[in-house]
Amino acid sequence: MTARPLGDAANRSYADKLEAFDRFAEPEIRAAVERLGITPGNRILDAGCGVGLVTSWLAEANGPSGVTMGMDLSRPHLLAAGPRRATHLAQADIASDPLRPASLDLIWCCNTVNHVHDPVGTLGRLRRALRPSGRLILAQSGLLPEMYFAWDAGLDERVRPACHAAYRDKYGLEEDTTSGVRRLVGFLHEAGLSLGPTKTYVIERTQPLADADRRYFQDVVFQGYWGDKVQPYLSDGDWRRLTALCDPASGDYCLDRPDFHHLQTLTVVEGRTDRAS
Ligand SMILES: C[S@@+](CC[C@H](N)C(=O)[O-])C[C@H]1O[C@@H](n2cnc3c(N)ncnc32)[C@H](O)[C@@H]1O
Repeated sequence: MTARPLGDAANRSYADKLEAFDRFAEPEIRAAVERLGITPGNRILDAGCGVGLVTSWLAEANGPSGVTMGMDLSRPHLLAAGPRRATHLAQADIASDPLRPASLDLIWCCNTVNHVHDPVGTLGRLRRALRPSGRLILAQSGLLPEMYFAWDAGLDERVRPACHAAYRDKYGLEEDTTSGVRRLVGFLHEAGLSLGPTKTYVIERTQPLADADRRYFQDVVFQGYWGDKVQPYLSDGDWRRLTALCDPASGDYCLDRPDFHHLQTLTVVEGRTDRAS
């Protein structure tokens, strides 16, 4: 078996992070699902479904006459997804051709193509599972730099590469493995799909922040993605500033600032099976 670049495994769990991101980005993800114009009664797969929240939103659009299935490698993620309504769940590796040919109308794949060793090969196999006129939707967050500290562009600009470097070192990745995910359109083309509509949603948050926003920023980003991991890649001054901005007990806590203003992106590209050659 080829190593998975981000260390995913059948028993690995980061379910809390997935739940927090989906709750945070729910308005934008739901808008993206609505824009797909799903008519009820389709056969839909959420490939790399995580904790199944988005699967359940796809199922709502697909209606009770449709079949909506979530597939994921991780058993703990599927166990977290289990209680959600109106979906079927399967544990499988999407890279290993687990689907019947020409059996699906639509495949949604969000923040997952960067987790497989061979994105183009995997998407080619997913394409074969689509019926004629089927659609493969790739969604990916963070293709553009995020804004956390609207009052300090330099710190934002230094924390982002520090975070990327920490992840590259943790997983032993080359730079183009982490930045390669920007090639969503190229992936679809190389996998034999024609390009349908593309759209980038801006996830924008200001005060008052919702509980889901605070939970995502604090637990997933500040403690999870950054935390101590980024310290070796920052100057002492930047590290001290970042620590104060991300500490709820500090007077500088950024989530309590009236000028807190967050931006990040969710990009959605659509591939179609109707390509002539
Ligand atoms: C970043 S999460 C995204 C989850 C979900 N799509 C969402 O948007 O919340 C990536 C998911 O892909 C799953 N995954 C990674 N490699 C996989 C593979 N080869 N086959 C199936 N699932 C995989 C992980 O277990 C994880 O649930």
